[in-house]
Amino acid sequence: MEGLKRVLKWGGIILGSLLLLFVIAVYALQSKSFDAPYPKITASTDSALIARGKHLVYGPAHCNGCHFAKDDMAKALNGEPVELKGGFEFVLPFGVIRTPNLTSDNETGIGGLRDAEIARILRYGVFPDGRAVFDFMPFHNLSDEDLTAVISYLRTLSPVNQKVVRREINFLGKAVVAFLIKPVGPMGEPPSSVSPDSTSAYGKYLVHSIANCVGCHTNRDMMTGAFIGEPFAGGFQMPSDAVPGLMFTTPNITPDPETGKIFPWTEEVFVHRFRQGVQIVGSPMPWGSFKNMTGLELKAIYRYLRSVEPVHKKIDQVVQKIE
Ligand code: HEC
Ligand code: HEC
Repeated sequence: MEGLKRVLKWGGIILGSLLLLFVIAVYALQSKSFDAPYPKITASTDSALIARGKHLVYGPAHCNGCHFAKDDMAKALNGEPVELKGGFEFVLPFGVIRTPNLTSDNETGIGGLRDAEIARILRYGVFPDGRAVFDFMPFHNLSDEDLTAVISYLRTLSPVNQKVVRREINFLGKAVVAFLIKPVGPMGEPPSSVSPDSTSAYGKYLVHSIANCVGCHTNRDMMTGAFIGEPFAGGFQMPSDAVPGLMFTTPNITPDPETGKIFPWTEEVFVHRFRQGVQIVGSPMPWGSFKNMTGLELKAIYRYLRSVEPVHKKIDQVVQKIE
């Protein structure tokens, strides 16, 4: 009896100490620092490049679909021009993440960041202080030219002084930050420039490196974001951030004759669907920004999606009520 008690006592002390070490490690690793190169990107005042950046920001790259203030939600979701002053929030199991202010305000915006620091955030997922960026933004393989265009446009935004409380994460979130979150960077060497045309090659660049069709229409692990499903076969579940209580499941957009959503659609039907904007209220797909895409971009995307591997996977319901 005495022996058992002693074992339990020591067992308890060891477990307790391990738990304490774990908690200490979680807190100590909150500012875990990563290294990444600074891209050689400098903002330009060339008007054509700024116009290209503006189109990307309010169109295919849908920066406006996340970096808006809560009060501007209706306008932002409809693709109308809004100030990119941030504050929109994502409520996740591990806490609340808010989008930062992208205007050139020195104190609350990105006015104090150097071009290369902004470029490193977007390409390598590393903040200037070395912390990893949560991987919300799929722009790691943006060409040097497009990254320059985007940053050049951001530099033209008038400063708006709005402070955003960026992260409010719980203990689970802190453990995730300590042990799971790593910066996500490019696959291979990003291209120096990709010229826009209606080919499926350009469509591939839009779908993978700018519009993030692949990131939502492929099933992923909720905790780590790792891809676990076949590309474009849908089935990834996401709660609506705009209308709480709705859970969305992405449709299969591969060209499978029986289960592929767009299999029966002609190129004209596809382009027309994007012109209509959001049809299911609360949809997380940035239909408002995508409405601003050019016909050329939409055709390129359609052509690329027709060329991907068909996957037979039936998605019955794209939206459900949850409690
Ligand atoms: C799906 C939502 C989403 C989209 C789309 C998006 N962002 Fe972000 N962005 C975020 C979130 C969330 C953060 C904060 C991440 C964190 O805290 O780790 C962020 C952070 C940033 C930062 C860091 C700012 C700072 O002060 O640290 C920059 C710069 C940025 N985004 C620029 C852009 C640009 C440019 C685009 C479009 C090309 C864009 N974002 C599109 C959600 C988004
Ligand atoms: C943030 C996640 C997200 C992104 C990014 C996204 N989608 Fe979607 N998509 C969804 C969800 C959720 C639905 C189902 C709800 C709906 O129809 O709005 C959907 C629906 C669709 C539909 C079916 C529309 C209909 O009328 O039935 C098509 C086609 C589609 N997406 C294509 C694309 C393409 C092409 C891209 C990239 C240009 C893209 N999606 C990017 C989440 C996303």
